[in-house]
Amino acid sequence: MALLASAMPLHAGSDPVIAVETSSTSLVFAVRENKTVYQLYYGPRMAADEFAAVPIRDMRYTAGFSQAYPATGGRFLGEPALHLRYADGTHNTELVYDSHTVSRWQGTVTTAILLKDPLRKVAVRLVFDAYPAEDVIVEHTEILNEGSQPLRMLEYASGALSLRADSYLLSHVHGSWAQEMKLESEPLGKGVKVLESRRGTQNTQCANPSFVLSLGTEELREDAGEVVAGALAWSGNYRLAFEHDVEGRLNVICGIHPFASAWPLEAGEQFRTPEMIWTYSGTGVGTASRNLHRWARRYGLYGQGAVHPILLNSWEGAYFDFNTQTLLRMIDDAASMDLEMFVLDDGWFGGKYPRNGADAGLGDWQVNRKKLPEGIDYLASYAHKKGLKFGIWMEPEMVNPRSELAQKHPEWVVRSPGREIYMERDQWVLDLTNPRVQDFVFDAFDGVMKLSASIDYVKWDCNRPVFSFGSDALDDQDKFYVAYCQGLYKVMERIRAKYPDVLIQCCSAGGARVDYGAMRYFDEVWTSDNTDALERVRIQYATGLIYPACVMGNHVSTVPNHQDGNVTPLKFRFDVACQGRLGLELQPKYLTEEELALVRRCVASYKGYRDLVFGGDLYRLGSPYGSDYYGQLYVSEDKSRAVLFVYCIRFNAMGAEGHPFRLQGLDAGRRYKVTELNVDRSCWWGDGGVWSGAFLESGAFNPVMGSLYSSAVFLLEAE
Ligand code: DGJ
Repeated sequence: MALLASAMPLHAGSDPVIAVETSSTSLVFAVRENKTVYQLYYGPRMAADEFAAVPIRDMRYTAGFSQAYPATGGRFLGEPALHLRYADGTHNTELVYDSHTVSRWQGTVTTAILLKDPLRKVAVRLVFDAYPAEDVIVEHTEILNEGSQPLRMLEYASGALSLRADSYLLSHVHGSWAQEMKLESEPLGKGVKVLESRRGTQNTQCANPSFVLSLGTEELREDAGEVVAGALAWSGNYRLAFEHDVEGRLNVICGIHPFASAWPLEAGEQFRTPEMIWTYSGTGVGTASRNLHRWARRYGLYGQGAVHPILLNSWEGAYFDFNTQTLLRMIDDAASMDLEMFVLDDGWFGGKYPRNGADAGLGDWQVNRKKLPEGIDYLASYAHKKGLKFGIWMEPEMVNPRSELAQKHPEWVVRSPGREIYMERDQWVLDLTNPRVQDFVFDAFDGVMKLSASIDYVKWDCNRPVFSFGSDALDDQDKFYVAYCQGLYKVMERIRAKYPDVLIQCCSAGGARVDYGAMRYFDEVWTSDNTDALERVRIQYATGLIYPACVMGNHVSTVPNHQDGNVTPLKFRFDVACQGRLGLELQPKYLTEEELALVRRCVASYKGYRDLVFGGDLYRLGSPYGSDYYGQLYVSEDKSRAVLFVYCIRFNAMGAEGHPFRLQGLDAGRRYKVTELNVDRSCWWGDGGVWSGAFLESGAFNPVMGSLYSSAVFLLEAE
């Protein structure tokens, strides 16, 4: 903000066109005679001056539609970015240009456009941070009540985008527990399509605050066509609205969900929205994903894409049924498999109400001495002695009614006066809008960290949504949903200030909190409780459209799979889980010698190439939707190394003759040594040879994939 203030304000008279530019894209705004600011263009980078001449035709039915930040009021009748209700009960806001500033900081160019409603004394600052190298624009909005009366914000989006194309194909994901991230692509007809969450917590359980829009095409194309992708960095309720107007334009309005969230702004108060992340690609969704991934690794992720340890998690191997001996044995086994961390999942805590199942103990974060008489430090130190890091599970936002906490502080539970407090998974939600609860959650985390100096990792879980919302601590219930997420972020700020180096996983009954807001604090996400590798191909593919592989926790589990009963070969399970942070989630003592040998082999090879998965550019070879084969390739930025994963996900008899994959992202002129990993005999005739990038991209790479769940991993190294 200081930087913005010091930048020289520019005025419309001297510069009616405002261009937010990255290396390859331009987002262009123009100020018109009536001082309204319109957004005229988002696409390949071009000189913006000529946009000064573009007439704005304020059509009869859609006046003001392409405004930079459309507000309810005047002739604008569409989906608003801003809707204010003033103290006198009126609803009209008309924003006009005041000034804009451009400033630079470490390669990022920030453009701030200040709009004002002179009558109502409301100021709106649209802030665009352009990341040139990544072709990403991050937008947020600051809304300031400069008047003398309070007002209410009924809608207050992070940003609006106005697009113009012959047609719009919206690709987005939906799902539920153990079947997250189902991709759906649908043409947008006229009217409004909304992607949203009203769940309070678990904001990505049923849909994700992200999308891919393909312009002028009927299909989601990997390497061709115009694409705009976006993601909202917010872990609370959200609403992404796509309004296709009668003139054929598309307005995209993204931000906090206005549902039950009319936010009060007292005189002189300001509100800053969460960030909306946009990218444009003229070469399909592949480029859009790579733009977002690169931006995320450099600027958007807490850990900036650092490599994380390979772990053994106790959940599917032991569930609640363990004691010290069980865990010591698992630690021994993890060490003997050359893993790097052991994570003790749910079930280690509880006082009067020990956590031996899901129905008790949440909130009472002391060690269950009956189960673990030697305590956590004993286990963590043992893991360290064995050369492993140690992690532990918590669910700090929740409380079981059967807990000492619920009995002591019933007023800390989310509840509405006179209403039943509904249960899910036998638990209630703690009221994170309450500063005392925030203190409790911070102290709980801090207390767990104090159980041992050897805790390196925390798995932060969150297993239910909010029902019958309400807070004993809030004087204004309209604040609940926003204040909950703000409360969570406040706690995370404190945790990060004290524990900057502890790895923290964001788990929410699997992948129910996968968003760029959470990723500012958490190192990784638990992608899904569904560990069936076949399902994971699809889940990881769709997650990767927006989020990089380095944040995905992927585990190899046993068969039949505990979620869906599917049986897949161990190698297939590894070849899928290795596309992210690898883990095992099974009881190792049941692995045969032959299986253990394969585990060690896969773990060793993963250690050799995981830097590519964590930091390389992702190239998808087709899509697992409707296809029998699928592949993904991660290429180092200098194109000197790559790792390739290929799978047969539905039986196709032709695969016995070799299925052609056209690799991508290589340097056509360089020659790569190709080595299949984890096998004695390769499935490709050219394995071990040195081949040009052009040849490998020609379709000549055709490994034999003769049976369902055939899979292979290849390392490509330039000469
Ligand atoms: C839900 C998580 O997604 C699982 O991985 C596991 O941690 C359980 N909760 C424990 O209760």
